[in-house]
Formats: sequence, C-alpha cells, structure tokens
Amino acid sequence: MTALKNDRFLRALAGEPVDMTPVWMMRQAGRYLPEYRATRKLAGDFMSLCRNAELACEVTMQPLRRYAMDAAILFSDILTIPDAMGQGLYFTEGEGPRFRKVVRSAQDVEQLPELDTAKDLSYVTDAVSVIRRELNGSVPLIGFSGSPWTLATYMIEGSGSKDFRNAKAFMFNEPEAMHQLLDKLARAVTNYLNAQIAAGAQAVQIFDTWGGVLSTSAYREFSLAYMQKIVAGLTKESEGRKVPVILFTKNGGLWLEEIAASGCDCVGLDWTIEIGRARALIGAKTSLQGNMDPTILYSTPKSIRAEVARILKDYGPGAGHVFNLGHGITPDVDPANVAVFVESVHELSQQYHQG
Ligand code: CP3
Repeated sequence: MTALKNDRFLRALAGEPVDMTPVWMMRQAGRYLPEYRATRKLAGDFMSLCRNAELACEVTMQPLRRYAMDAAILFSDILTIPDAMGQGLYFTEGEGPRFRKVVRSAQDVEQLPELDTAKDLSYVTDAVSVIRRELNGSVPLIGFSGSPWTLATYMIEGSGSKDFRNAKAFMFNEPEAMHQLLDKLARAVTNYLNAQIAAGAQAVQIFDTWGGVLSTSAYREFSLAYMQKIVAGLTKESEGRKVPVILFTKNGGLWLEEIAASGCDCVGLDWTIEIGRARALIGAKTSLQGNMDPTILYSTPKSIRAEVARILKDYGPGAGHVFNLGHGITPDVDPANVAVFVESVHELSQQYHQG
C-alpha cells in the first residue's frame, strides 16, 4: 500500500501534533454538488449508485476534487444492513428512505437473518477497494455504519420518524425482543465494519443519529451498550496503523463522559455543545470531531469564517480536534460556501498548532 501523503486526520484522531486542523464534512458527497446529481441520474437511483463500485468511487472523489478535505468517506448508506437483512429498502423522491417490510414483533426479529457482510454486502467492500486504489494515498478513507439503535428505529418505523412512537413502544413493550434485535444488529455492524477495514477503511465512524431522542437510562441500555460492544469487537490495527473509531451521537452532549468511556478514540459532537467544554470534560481521554451548525453554510463567507474562528478558539491550542459540521451538510448549500469553510479551517487553525 502507498504511504499516506496527508495523514493529518489520523494524527489528530490520535492526539498527535499537526500543522493545521484537519477537516471533512459529514455527507460531503451529496446533492449540494451538481456533479453528484448528474452521477446519481446516470446510476438511475440512489441504491443503484451505492451498488455500483465505480460510480460510488466517483461520487466519493467529487468533493475532494473541489476542496482540500483531509479525509474521504465511503459513499454508501447506513441502511444497507437492514436492506441486506431482507427489509426491502427504497427511496422516494423528497421523502427519504422507506422499507417494504417492518419489524413489529419478537417473531419478526427472530426471522431476521444473521449477516455475513463480506458476502451479503460485497458491493460495499468492493467500493472500499476501488476508492482506496483511486485515492492512491492522498488522504485516508473513512468507513462507517449506523448504530444498532439508529438502524432499529428505521427497521421498526419503516421510514424516518418525528417521534419514534413505534420504535419506542417496541422498546417499552417488548424489551427482550428489542435487545435481541439490537444484539443481532451489533453483530452485523461489527462484522460489517471489520469487512470495511479489511478492504481498506483506515478509520470508522458509527452514526448514532437518533440516540439523542432517548432518556439517559434508555440511551445507556439501548444505544451506548451496543456501540460499546461493537467498539470492543473491531479490528484495532490494519496496514501497521491503528484504525480509530469515531462515535457520533447526535444530541449526545449530556452523555459525553460515558461516550468517551466506551473505548472509542474520538467523540463526534453536534453543534449544541461547546467544544471547549467538551474538551475540558473528555479531551484527555479522546479526540473530538465537530461541530459547526451546518445551517451556517447558508449564510455569508464572512459569518462562516467568523464561526470557524470561534470554534477553533473555543477548542484552543494543540492537537486532538478534527473539524467537521455538527451533522450532515444539507442539499441546497452553495458549493462556494463549502470552499470558504474548508479554507477557513486550514488558514485560521495554523496559529493553534505552533511548537
Ligand atoms: O457522508 C458521506 O458523504 C457518505 C455517504 C453517506 C450517506 N448517508 C449518503 C446519502 C452517509 C455517511 C450516510 C449516513 C446516513 N444515512 C445516516 C447517518 C448520518 C445522518 O445524516 O444522520 C442516516 C440517518 C441515513 C439514512 C438516510 N439515507 C436518510 C435519512 C436519507 C435521506 C436524506 C435526504 O437527505 O434525503 C438517505 C439518503 C442519502 N444517503 C443521500 C445521500 C447522499 C441522499 C440521496 C439522494 O437523494 O441522492
């Protein structure tokens, strides 16, 4: 394998000195880019884009051609696992993901197959290999998965949800079946992330997008416990280098110490928590990723620069920070504002990395 030309992202995750703060964006390959929309059209639909390794590679590379991102993220989706379990994932224009089959009983859980992800999701590992070849050591590649709880919410609801009434009712009414479902998903996710690492992923992120809708005790029992289990089961080292794990619970600001104690290497932050406070609480234990409000990208270059400066100052001098948005970039952002964001992080962070 080619040595990495830019390893700022991996160094920051390990808390090692860097020349400037590394930056990437959740959902950096996506609809805000006209070239993404063109490639998706060529593929036909979103899942066909995910299943075509060459096209998935193409859209992974698109944001890197425009901006000096310090990491690439595999182009895929978190819902590939429930799809491979036979739930029939499809996307309707403007409505987000939907499943043909939903999980609503202990029997439904029982009937879900155990995945052999290297086989059942070989289109994902194929994409990882193709992307690694194309990156040719320019920047590291991030693999990812959804958390068991977040995947379970989609599997039970059958789509996105505002109040998660079905997923929560299942958790309250059938806690044993819920635990069985989460356990099955945790095994699948562990297996899936290890397959991505074997294929060439150099860091992995677990997206717990909906962990923050739970009570503290339910979060511990139904989300964090399973992520902890996954972290413990992951391949620790590949190609002679540590494979760091980033754990992102949206709205997890109340639980930072517990998240940091999960064994992860980095805690992903949404924009509701002050990064300086997060650093004071857990910065000695893990690195931090985040945490600009993505909607600031709708504002002006001047406000974007000011917000980047504010977050860098709040984090303060020294390593251990990967700059990112606090959630994914939204579809109709002006691509020129993303350039301002990335350039501002690189330019304004250098003063915090001297000596
Ligand atoms: O970050 C990246 O660039 C990598 C690709 C990536 C996608 N989805 C591509 C995608 C990643 C990491 C995801 C994760 C994902 N998918 C999450 C967790 C992160 C988050 O944002 O909270 C969730 C909850 C999903 C499920 C999902 N997939 C939803 C809710 C949607 C519809 C959202 C929307 O914007 O319409 C998707 C579809 C999806 N996944 C798109 C992309 C680029 C948009 C599809 C399209 O219309 O082309």
